[in-house]
Amino acid sequence: MEPMSADQLTAEVVERLEGTTNPRLRVVMQSLVRHLHAFAVEVALTDEEWMQGIQFLTATGQKCDDVRQEFILLSDTLGLSSLVDLINHAGDEPGATEPTILGPFYVPNSPERSFGASMVEFDDGGEQTIVRGIVTDVDGQPIADAVLDVWQNSANGFYAVQQPDVQPATNLRGIYRTQADGSYEFRTVRPQPYSIPDDGPVGQLLKATGRHPFRAAHLHVKVSAPGFIGTTTHVFDAESDYLDSDTVFGVKGSLIRSFTPDLDGQLVCAMDFALRSDG
Ligand code: BEZ
Ligand code: FE
Repeated sequence: MEPMSADQLTAEVVERLEGTTNPRLRVVMQSLVRHLHAFAVEVALTDEEWMQGIQFLTATGQKCDDVRQEFILLSDTLGLSSLVDLINHAGDEPGATEPTILGPFYVPNSPERSFGASMVEFDDGGEQTIVRGIVTDVDGQPIADAVLDVWQNSANGFYAVQQPDVQPATNLRGIYRTQADGSYEFRTVRPQPYSIPDDGPVGQLLKATGRHPFRAAHLHVKVSAPGFIGTTTHVFDAESDYLDSDTVFGVKGSLIRSFTPDLDGQLVCAMDFALRSDG
């Protein structure tokens, strides 16, 4: 038998996947193999480096549990989560609010809170603020009874789910609904820039590659309404650090808003959301 070249080996593995009955799985797996092999060839991957890679992936899996999702952090910090978001929404109807990454701290079944109610359940000394706006369709028509599922971090930089012994589980989380005119409003504290969890393999990789682990200050919102395509997005604080270097590449210019004092000195962030019809 002649010794095999790298190209021949790649072709053989791709050929071996021809029998995949699910056509989409076949396309995805064959392309993955081609790209993985090309990557290994391009960097002339050594045995030691590949073993280090396997150890890194093993440690990433071992770091995962019910509330810690190291693989999501890996995807986010490599820009893959944002790339998938970009690929899937590049052709969206103009006028709709841009989505951005979900992140690992979303917890379903937040408490329903009334118009204007506060979602602060833990006094962390944060700067009190009102967030308000309207939810419309892409033509600007208000949507009544739209749902805003909101979550954010506390002034200490952590989400409630990260600090079960410190914060009440539903602190800074809430489900709000729009009124007949499409308006919503809630009270909260100003979100803070924060470090993503960096005490695991992803944090080590960030350090080894000279990167910081910080996200620009933001609150998360999932907006949905019957008859419309829901969106998962953020509102970023225009005065935050890291808007230009968010460690998970989640910032979009259209999602940046000011937190500005009104005539009574009350801090207000105004953010409208527009949803695409699903019809
Ligand atoms: C977040 O915004 O909650 C988040 C996103 C990606 C990684 C870590 C946190
Ligand atoms: Fe976040």
